[in-house]
Amino acid sequence: AEKKLWGGRFAEGTAASMEAYSESVSFDWQLYAEDIRGSQAHARVLAKQGFLTEDEARQICDGLDTVKAEIEVGDFNWKTEMEDVHMNIESRLTEIIGPLGGKLHTARSRNDQVALDFRLYVTARLAVWQECLTSLVDVYVARAEEHGETLLPGCTHFQPAQPVSLAQHLLAYSQMFKRDYERVADCLKRVCVMPLGAAALAGTTHPVDPQAVADDLGVPLIFANSMDAVSDRDFALEAVFAGSLIMTHLSRMCEEIIIWANPNFGYVKLPDQYATGSSIMPQKKNPDACELMRGKTGRVVGSLMGLLVLLKGLPLTYNRDFQEDKEPFFDADKTVTASLDIMADMLGQLEFVPDKMLGTVERGFLNATELADYLAAKGMPFREAHHITGAAVAFAEGKGVGLEGLTLNELKQFSDEIEDDVFLVLDYKACVRRRTSPGGTGPQSVAKQITDLREWLQAV
Ligand code: ARG
Repeated sequence: AEKKLWGGRFAEGTAASMEAYSESVSFDWQLYAEDIRGSQAHARVLAKQGFLTEDEARQICDGLDTVKAEIEVGDFNWKTEMEDVHMNIESRLTEIIGPLGGKLHTARSRNDQVALDFRLYVTARLAVWQECLTSLVDVYVARAEEHGETLLPGCTHFQPAQPVSLAQHLLAYSQMFKRDYERVADCLKRVCVMPLGAAALAGTTHPVDPQAVADDLGVPLIFANSMDAVSDRDFALEAVFAGSLIMTHLSRMCEEIIIWANPNFGYVKLPDQYATGSSIMPQKKNPDACELMRGKTGRVVGSLMGLLVLLKGLPLTYNRDFQEDKEPFFDADKTVTASLDIMADMLGQLEFVPDKMLGTVERGFLNATELADYLAAKGMPFREAHHITGAAVAFAEGKGVGLEGLTLNELKQFSDEIEDDVFLVLDYKACVRRRTSPGGTGPQSVAKQITDLREWLQAV
């Protein structure tokens, strides 16, 4: 077996089972670019501090570029016995440039190195999440723009409640994903912290300059406490929480699309590209993309739980348990980015069926609140207006018509206050149009929401 980089005090090799159990290179190889970036910055600052000559730093940086090129063309021999990405890269560097490679690890521990690599990686991925989120908000806004006039039965308790514009419903999701973007931006403030120089746990006797390394890497902050620097994983946990919430929002939308696509609703027709057929029932068109997204939400929440439990009992500072922190993030990242992309594309292609939505609006007495408000506006206590309207609904239901299908005389049985102008407020489109309150479903509010979101999209 090959000599371990840390093997100085060991007489016997590692058991094969232990080697397989402890390796992380099979997944943490993905941190190679960050590992190399961090090492190059470290080498440059070691030179600045007079610890390496400029020429030595240059040889190390060039050697690392060679390693990176080997990895990227698939020419790199990842070795399980080298445990992780850090030692694989360092040992290959030493093969290429000789014993000088061994100087790179001065004033640095893998504990701060892995923290740096992971932080840089999460930073890059969160930036991708943000792009996906703005693309999705953009699609929501575009679809909302098409459907300012489309009436949808707005629900509470999943029972038809009041008509809203489909635009208003879609824009509600835009707000969720906008907040998700902001949550990711806020999380990034705590992810983008440079931990190198913590040197295992206590700081170092070498004249390190963490600020210079951070400046070199373009990372805005450095750690304040060396023990915290190597044992904080809350940045990853918070990122996976933000991802869990993104998935939760997507899952709610998926649930609605699944319901809307059911022929009993028929509010949407699924794009062929995101539906599947049945192997036995030829008529079927199944919403598999939405179902999978709803299902994968559980998986991302599972990663969040995994990280919370991983961290909860750990004494300071580094514990090898931390090696288990990467896969939950990698897995969550893969799911979050793919899901956001798929939702954006699927939503862009989703065919809405306004007639079906209108049918439910008209059959469900969704203008009942209008009649109660009409009476209340004439000075009747709202409780009484509510009661009277309820009686009118029961009467209309018995006749098999909507409130707007009753004659004025029929309506007058319930209250003398009801005049001919009642039919103006019972009109379903008017229900939406007359909701002029801020943030409501009325057209001015919807237009303002769209303008504000477009401005926001321009600014981010
Ligand atoms: N592969 C390790 C991890 O992911 C790297 C750090 C190992 N440090 C140590 N002292 N064993 O956490």
